[in-house]
Formats: sequence, C-alpha cells, structure tokens
Amino acid sequence: MNNISGQNAILTGASKGLGVHIARTLAKEGVNLVLTARSVDALEKVRNEILSYNIKAEVIPADLTDTDQIQPFIKEAEQKLGPIDILVNNAGIEISTPYEEFSPDDIQKMITLNLTVPMLLTRGLLPGMLERNRGHIVNISSLAGKTGFPNETPYAASKAGLIMFTHSLRVELTGTKLNASVICPGFVSDDGMYARMEERAGPAPKILKPTTPEKVANGVIRCIKKNISELIINPLPMKPMFMLQEVMPGIKTTLHKAFGTREYAKKVSQNRSKKELQ
Ligand SMILES: NC(=O)c1ccc[n+]([C@@H]2O[C@H](COP(=O)([O-])OP(=O)(O)OC[C@H]3O[C@@H](n4cnc5c(N)ncnc54)[C@H](OP(=O)(O)O)[C@@H]3O)[C@@H](O)[C@H]2O)c1
Repeated sequence: MNNISGQNAILTGASKGLGVHIARTLAKEGVNLVLTARSVDALEKVRNEILSYNIKAEVIPADLTDTDQIQPFIKEAEQKLGPIDILVNNAGIEISTPYEEFSPDDIQKMITLNLTVPMLLTRGLLPGMLERNRGHIVNISSLAGKTGFPNETPYAASKAGLIMFTHSLRVELTGTKLNASVICPGFVSDDGMYARMEERAGPAPKILKPTTPEKVANGVIRCIKKNISELIINPLPMKPMFMLQEVMPGIKTTLHKAFGTREYAKKVSQNRSKKELQ
C-alpha cells in the first residue's frame, strides 16, 4: 500500500518523545490522527503543529493504565475521527532498578501499559477492521524485548511479549487485508527515554550506537506501506547477535558483559529519577 493519505490512526504516547516524531511523520503522509497520552497541554501543542499538514487531528487524553477507559476511548476516537485504519501502540514506560527492588505496583504498571494496553486497544479495534477488511497495527517494542536488558527486567519482558503478540496476530490475520508490525528500536538519541537516561548516566557503550527518532518514525510508515513484520532499527551489531542468540541462548550473558550493558544498566539505576517513575 503506497498511499496512506486520508486514513485514520490512533497514536498512543503522542505527548512527548518518539510519539511527537511519529505524529509529525504520519501527518506529513496525510494521515488523520487521534493523539492520546495523559498530558493535555503537550498533546494540544502536537495537534496544533500537525494541523499545518492539512489533516484532521483530535486530542483525547487518557491514562491508559486504567484499562476500563479503553473501550470508551475507542468509542470517542471513532466518533471524532471515523473508523480507525491504523493503530500505533507507542506509549510505554521503563523503570531501571535491580529486580528485587521493583515494587509489585511498578511491575504491574509496566506490563499493563507496555503490553496489556496494546493488546486491549487491538482487541477493541479488530472487529471493525475485520468488517471493513482493512487495518494495520504497529507496535513499538524495543531491542530489550529481543535480547533482554539488565535492571529493566519487567520492561524487557513486556517488550518481548509485544513482539510475540504481533507475530501471532499476523499469522492469525493471514487471508485478510489486515496486518501487524513490530518495531524494535535500540537506544534512540535526541528525544525520549534514552535521551533522558543519557542526561543522567552518560552515553551508552559505543557499540550500541543510538538511532534517531526520525528513523523510528519513518519505520512506522515503512512498516505500513511495505507490510514489514518486524523492523530492527539499529541493525549492527544487533542482527548477527540475534542470529547467534537463537542457536545459543546462553551466550546473551557473555555478549552483554562484552558490550558493557550490565555496567551501564547499573549506572542508569543508580542515577534514576523518582519523578520519571510517575
Ligand atoms: N527512546 C528510546 O530510546 C526507546 C528505545 C526503544 C524503545 N522505545 C519505545 O518507544 C516508545 C516511546 O518511547 P519514548 O522514548 O518516546 O518514551 P517517553 O518519552 O517516556 O514517552 C512515553 C509516552 O507514553 C505516554 N504515557 C506514559 N504513561 C502513560 C499512561 N499511563 N497512559 C497513557 N500514556 C502514557 C507519555 O505521555 P504522558 O506522560 O503525557 O502520559 C508519553 O507520551 C515506548 O514504547 C518505548 O518503550 C524507546
């Protein structure tokens, strides 16, 4: 599908970080948007900016971890914009701390926002998409979901779940004109959670060189237009490493040690900000 102009999309996590770049890129393609997150003023700012692309954009603030809000949210989105063709599950939170120090609430919150919410939004939209026989779900996962990440164990688990949710759904949707894609960025510079991490703990080990928010946003468009199942945004040294991990899962510990991720994760945990956990 080369032209997505005029389609209607829901974008979660649209108030800051990668979401703002994804909103801009979708709007440039002529996609109408429902923007959601909790911060109303920030969402309005994004909406005002993207309206210049001659599209329709609506703001519906929601704390999506209150999962009772999901069905009413979908109803309001469709009332305001019309039938939804594209869902971009981008909202996410990460908390960096040794596993034994995670509160049960923080574990629950991360799994809910990063995994349960994308699954519930998809579940809510799928009947309409199937009836119209068109739709694309794009899930923003992470390389943490491919290879794990120390001190971010619930985050990595939620992102691994999102990858397998996407692949299972994709197989299930075979024979329809609906599709699902998952994007796995590594560290992303300039904006978003890694940029804030970098401010607190310095840059990640050189070998894990960050990508840019624009590449992730362009990835969303590529996934929809080219119907890509899984997009790794930072290809080297990741792709060869994943191939090795498939046949030798135990090698992950050695690779993380060699890449310096364990030491970096410790530094991030020690410098974490309480404000970011809210
Ligand atoms: N940045 C990276 O380096 C990186 C790397 C790999 C993967 N990712 C993934 O990319 C996605 C975007 O990350 P980011 O870096 O842009 O993160 P971010 O800057 O922290 O933005 C997160 C977004 O999620 C929203 N959000 C947080 N809690 C919410 C809640 N309870 N209900 C509704 N919305 C909520 C935030 O808005 P409000 O606070 O206004 O609610 C914000 O719009 C995430 O899924 C992340 O895991 C990022």
